[in-house]
Amino acid sequence: MIKSRYLGHSCVEFDFNGTTVLLDPFIRYNELAKNIRVEELKPDYIFLSHGHEDHVADMVEIQKNSGAQVAAIVETAAWVRKQGVSEDKVLEFNFGGTLSLPFGKVKMVFALHTNSTPDGNYGGNSVGFLFQIEGKNIYFAGDTGLSVEMQLLKPYNIQAAFLPIGGHYTMDVEDAVRAAEMIGVRKVIGIHFDTFPPIRIDKEEAVNTFSEAGLELHLLNVGDSLDL
Ligand code: NI
Ligand code: MN
Repeated sequence: MIKSRYLGHSCVEFDFNGTTVLLDPFIRYNELAKNIRVEELKPDYIFLSHGHEDHVADMVEIQKNSGAQVAAIVETAAWVRKQGVSEDKVLEFNFGGTLSLPFGKVKMVFALHTNSTPDGNYGGNSVGFLFQIEGKNIYFAGDTGLSVEMQLLKPYNIQAAFLPIGGHYTMDVEDAVRAAEMIGVRKVIGIHFDTFPPIRIDKEEAVNTFSEAGLELHLLNVGDSLDL
């Protein structure tokens, strides 16, 4: 059973048959996520798409509370180590690489976005992740603009894609529709919207834009779950 729970902005908690995997924790500084208790999150793994504050702000606290392993591209993983996360808890990899973990495989895929870590250092590229869990493939795009590399995901027959839709820093709704078409995925869960004024969207219009293209856009309230 694969479940997801939306924790606001781009933070998603997956339940992969009992293994908890947290993506891009940004909760304490997100007014929209004030009902989420950071201290209650106990993931087995934390994956970071890149080092921008709105994707890593709560990583240290959650890692300390949970002892989670933290996975990221090499340069962002170096920042994770500098925060005091011990070497045996850091999983660094790079484009083309696939981690084989007890819950499934995770491939690092392209994202079109910049990346620096909160200390101002180079964070490597921004990335997306393709989770391959017992025959189901789930794509988490992180922050990205529309890019032709997304076509490379088509052969994976992706069941659900978490795509940024807020515009300004990432794809907007129209580009996300084009991305879904390129990827060949019908079920899209929107992330990276409404948190800050420049990325506020008209949610009804967004859902309609997707449905006119024959696609499903799920916009979850913070704290809501969706079975995948
Ligand atoms: Ni970013
Ligand atoms: Mn961001």
